[in-house]
Amino acid sequence: MQTRTLPGTDLSLSVVGMGCWTIGGRYWGPTDDDDSVAAVRAAVEHGVTWFDTAPLYGDGHADRILARALGSHIHRVTIATKVGVRLDGTGPEGHDGHAHSDLRPAHVLADVEQSLRRLKEPLDLLQVHWPCEWDTPLEDTLAALEDCRSRGWIRHWGLCNYDADGVARARRLGPVASLQTPYSLLRRELEGELLAACGADAQGRSVGVLAYEALCRGLLSGKHKLPPTFGEDDMRSWDERFQGAAFLHANGIAQDLVAIGRKLGVPASAVALGWVASRPGVTAVIAGARTAAQVKENVRAAALLDHPRVWEVVDKAVSRHGPPPRF
Ligand SMILES: NC(=O)c1ccc[n+]([C@@H]2O[C@H](COP(=O)([O-])OP(=O)(O)OC[C@H]3O[C@@H](n4cnc5c(N)ncnc54)[C@H](OP(=O)(O)O)[C@@H]3O)[C@@H](O)[C@H]2O)c1
Repeated sequence: MQTRTLPGTDLSLSVVGMGCWTIGGRYWGPTDDDDSVAAVRAAVEHGVTWFDTAPLYGDGHADRILARALGSHIHRVTIATKVGVRLDGTGPEGHDGHAHSDLRPAHVLADVEQSLRRLKEPLDLLQVHWPCEWDTPLEDTLAALEDCRSRGWIRHWGLCNYDADGVARARRLGPVASLQTPYSLLRRELEGELLAACGADAQGRSVGVLAYEALCRGLLSGKHKLPPTFGEDDMRSWDERFQGAAFLHANGIAQDLVAIGRKLGVPASAVALGWVASRPGVTAVIAGARTAAQVKENVRAAALLDHPRVWEVVDKAVSRHGPPPRF
C-alpha cells in the first residue's frame, strides 16, 4: 500500500483510507458490529494506515467500533475525525429534528471532548464537518480549533464540504491541513476553482484533498444490475442516483469499470477508487465498507497506481456516457 504525506503535516496516509460512516450503523440500513470489527481489522492487515470517522456516524458508535477493533493499535494508525455537527435536532431556527452544523467555540470544545473519550488519544486530524449554519465567525471557530491544539487534544485540523471561497478564507486565518470533499467518476465538482483553492500558496504549502463517496455509495462497484431497493433506514432509498435515468447512467459507467477491472484482474471498486487516488491534488481516497471482503477488494486500488495508462482507458470509457442527467 502506498502512502502519501498530508501536506504540511507529519501524517503519512495510505492512498486508500477506510471511511467509518457505514459502520456507525445509522443511515446505511442494518449493520453487524462483528462484521464491522472484522472490516477494520482487515483494513489494517492490508496496509490501511488511517480511518475517517465522525461523532455523527451512529452518534459515536463508529468511534466505539474503531476503538474495539483496533485496541492498542489505535496509537499506530491515524484517526481523522470531525467536529461541529449538533445531533440533537436543534438548529439556528429552533428544533427541527435534523442534524445541524454548530461551530460556536463552546460546542466545538464540547464535541472534541466527547470524541477524545471515545477514541482515547490526541486526535491526529480534526475536520470541521460542515460549513457554519449559526452565523459563527470563521475566526472564532478556527480559534477554537487552535485552542484544541494548544490543549494537546488534536494535532492538525482541516475542513469538509467547504467551497473555494471558504477554503481560501480559512487559509488566510490558519494552517488548513486538509479538505474532505466528494469526488468520483460521477461527481467532478472538485475540478476547477475548488482544487485551485487547495493549491500551493506563496510558501509552497498546499491543502491535502481527501476524497469521499468515490464509490457513489456502492453504485460504482457495479453490483447493482437493476435499481436496488433499500429499507427506509438506508439513505440510499431516497438518493436519486439509485433511481431512473441517473441510475442507468451511473450503472452504465459501473459496468464499464467491471469490464476494465476484469481485464486487469481487479474488482470495479478498485478501478473507481484508484481513478480518484490517481487524480492531481488528491492525497488519499476514503473508501466506506461494511465487510472485510469489501475492504480486501477496495485496497487493490493502490496497486493500480503503478499503471497510469489504465486511467486513459477509464476516461475514454466514461466520456462515452456523457454527463449525469440533472435532477
Ligand atoms: N465529510 C463528509 O461530509 C462525508 C460525507 C460522506 C462520506 N464521508 C466519509 O467518506 C467515507 C466514504 O463515503 P461513503 O461511505 O459515503 O460512500 P462510498 O465509499 O462511496 O460507499 C461505501 C459503501 O459502498 C459499498 N461498498 C464498499 N465497498 C464495496 C465493494 N468492494 N463492493 C461492493 N460494495 C461496496 C458499501 O455499502 P453496501 O454494502 O451497503 O452496498 C459501503 O458502505 C464515509 O464512510 C465517511 O468516512 C464524509
